[in-house]
Amino acid sequence: MKILVINGPNLNMLGIREPDIYGKQDFASLEKYIRDCASELSLSVSLFQSNHEGEIVDVIQSAYGVYDGIVINPAAYTHTSVAILDALKAVGIPTVEVHLSDISTREAFRQHSYVSLVAKKTICGLGFEGYRKALEFFA
Ligand code: DQA
Repeated sequence: MKILVINGPNLNMLGIREPDIYGKQDFASLEKYIRDCASELSLSVSLFQSNHEGEIVDVIQSAYGVYDGIVINPAAYTHTSVAILDALKAVGIPTVEVHLSDISTREAFRQHSYVSLVAKKTICGLGFEGYRKALEFFA
């Protein structure tokens, strides 16, 4: 089973960025963690990170007919991007949404997610472990 993991803007700044919220481990550690989890679960995984909404739309469109599942942390685009929602709807690939922090208990503007409207499951507040749970959903 082939899974595409997409991380959105500023997640490449993990470790530097607001460590009290997002933790002290860097983005390379997150990518290694995801690869290790996928390997344990016998899933084939591709990783993509972008700070650009259109690039995320492009990679979702390119996933059509190639990937069996998408794990996405859309980061700030969670709360703003109808384009990412529409791309996920267009390709119809089962999607699990992940957030490192618990967006339900943070600022009001983080409590609405467009991607949740299409996601089979949303996992929040578990840090890196959320990505493992998302991969387990597909496994
Ligand atoms: C985030 C939560 C978002 O509100 C925020 O904009 C992010 C990261 C998370 O993983 O907790 O960049 O998606």
